[in-house]
Amino acid sequence: MEVIICPTAAEAASTGASILARLLREKPDATLGLATGNTPLALYAELIRRHQSGAIDFAHCHAFNLDEYFGIGPDHPASYHRFMSENLFSHINIAPEHCRIPDGLAKDVPTACRDYEQAIVASGGIDLQVLGIGGDGHIGFNEPGSSLQSRTRIKTLTARTRRDNAGDFGAEDNVPMHVITMGVGTIMEARSLLLFAFGAHKAAVVASAVEGPITSMVPASILQMHPCAKVILDEAAASQLTRAEYYRWVYANKPAWQADA
Ligand code: PGA
Repeated sequence: MEVIICPTAAEAASTGASILARLLREKPDATLGLATGNTPLALYAELIRRHQSGAIDFAHCHAFNLDEYFGIGPDHPASYHRFMSENLFSHINIAPEHCRIPDGLAKDVPTACRDYEQAIVASGGIDLQVLGIGGDGHIGFNEPGSSLQSRTRIKTLTARTRRDNAGDFGAEDNVPMHVITMGVGTIMEARSLLLFAFGAHKAAVVASAVEGPITSMVPASILQMHPCAKVILDEAAASQLTRAEYYRWVYANKPAWQADA
């Protein structure tokens, strides 16, 4: 696991955008795994900016989102379909038919989940998965206790996550109880992972995920087992890491050929 500590979230987003841009230069038809929430907003803004300046072409890539609320449709203002359209897809040249997000209105959930997994495989597998981290350590909507080998399925949100996400729905009671999410096992099959976290409110969970034991109680801790995982933080989110100086040292002395890789 590589830990990259940036002075600000904007610089972290720029670092992440450079990694993504390099992937798309080398593999224009790459499959991206995308995330929602506040964390990836700066990354998406930077990707849009670079696309508009001609530096990134999304014409041939495919995208799969991590998750969607169950029981709401794509036009619901708090749906992740709406989020992705407003914050990324409608501003770049990705083909709409290349963008997949779990169907929150699926009638046959197990079949829809299996189809989602098969679509990922059919697209060649995810080359790079963008992740945030929940205050409780979730990745996607894999709440604490999720099997570390889980696949795309329906999950029940914790009270904490419903509280954290209440703002999007006006009130906690309006937040759906259930979600469809890629599993931890699905996420771990991506060839590379980029987990972002910003702000002091993420510092404790970042320290648990990066330096604590691997446990389903902190699903993000499984990234320690991934052969190519990067954790990109601002100073505040890195503030409880005991080995922060070493991570900075490693990054400052990275061989030039590894830049953006
Ligand atoms: P946030 O959510 O980016 O809004 O903090 C992260 C997550 O729940 O994965």
